[in-house]
Amino acid sequence: MLTSPVRTPHRDRFRDLIHSLTGISLPPSKVQMIDQRLRRRVVAFALPDTETYLERLLGGALPDGELRTVIDLITTNTTSFFREADHFDYLAEVIAPRVAARSRPGHPARLKLWSAAASEGAEAYSAAMVLEEARRRGHDFDFAILGTDLSQRMVERAIAAVYGQDQLTTVPPDLLRRYFLSSSDPSLAGKARIVPELRRRVKFRNLNLMDTRFPVDRDVDVIFLRNILIYFDPATKEQVVERLAGHLRPGGILLVGHAESMVVRSSALRQVKPTIFQKT
Ligand SMILES: C[S@@+](CC[C@H](N)C(=O)[O-])C[C@H]1O[C@@H](n2cnc3c(N)ncnc32)[C@H](O)[C@@H]1O
Repeated sequence: MLTSPVRTPHRDRFRDLIHSLTGISLPPSKVQMIDQRLRRRVVAFALPDTETYLERLLGGALPDGELRTVIDLITTNTTSFFREADHFDYLAEVIAPRVAARSRPGHPARLKLWSAAASEGAEAYSAAMVLEEARRRGHDFDFAILGTDLSQRMVERAIAAVYGQDQLTTVPPDLLRRYFLSSSDPSLAGKARIVPELRRRVKFRNLNLMDTRFPVDRDVDVIFLRNILIYFDPATKEQVVERLAGHLRPGGILLVGHAESMVVRSSALRQVKPTIFQKT
């Protein structure tokens, strides 16, 4: 038998709070998911149920920083190396040569890339490997990558740049050999870390896409905004795309996830391919 999802004033207020802070929509169909993700917190405070936990959280009766922890738990951080591979082909075959063409002898042009919902860094480091490979093939340019995410836990993981074998299955073997180091540290057994030369080019920071201004350059060559718009309502999607478009240089490229191409409607962008948009 179908049961209607649990709705109470605390749950409704919690949903509104998460939406206003993160842009993430939590429709009634996600009640079970929220309960599952908050279970650890309910247990940590030895509370009887989610309802009591939410009442305390919303009433400010839990320690400082609890809301931060909750936001971390609510975000979905699924990612992988070379996810949606055609974007990395486009980076190698179209964007890198285009930037290299801006270089002058002795003055390599700098390609700026922003991974705007970076999760634990696989997207940003995949891009770094692709760009380093383009340089090895003789394209003359320099590059700098910024990865940002709302989840502080993910930002810390991305900075650590340590990945388990199960996460490395989508990395081509030659890139695995060139850009990952396995560690002798027993706590890192079975894991591999991105080499320092690549880590130096990729910085990560905590950033909320709901903010009205971002401390990010306004001449970025390519922004990865992938698998994040799906969590936002239509008005939020539009605002985020518009704000990010303001950080692209003319001719710069915005990449969205394959489930998200239909939501990009901005007069500042023209569609080049289904998920690839160029600043006009
Ligand atoms: C599903 S992951 C996508 C990761 C990567 N872009 C990819 O496609 O593999 C979505 C990420 O967006 C982050 N996120 C959610 N809301 C956000 C917001 N308001 N501002 C910045 N990041 C946010 C989450 O923490 C999560 O790590």
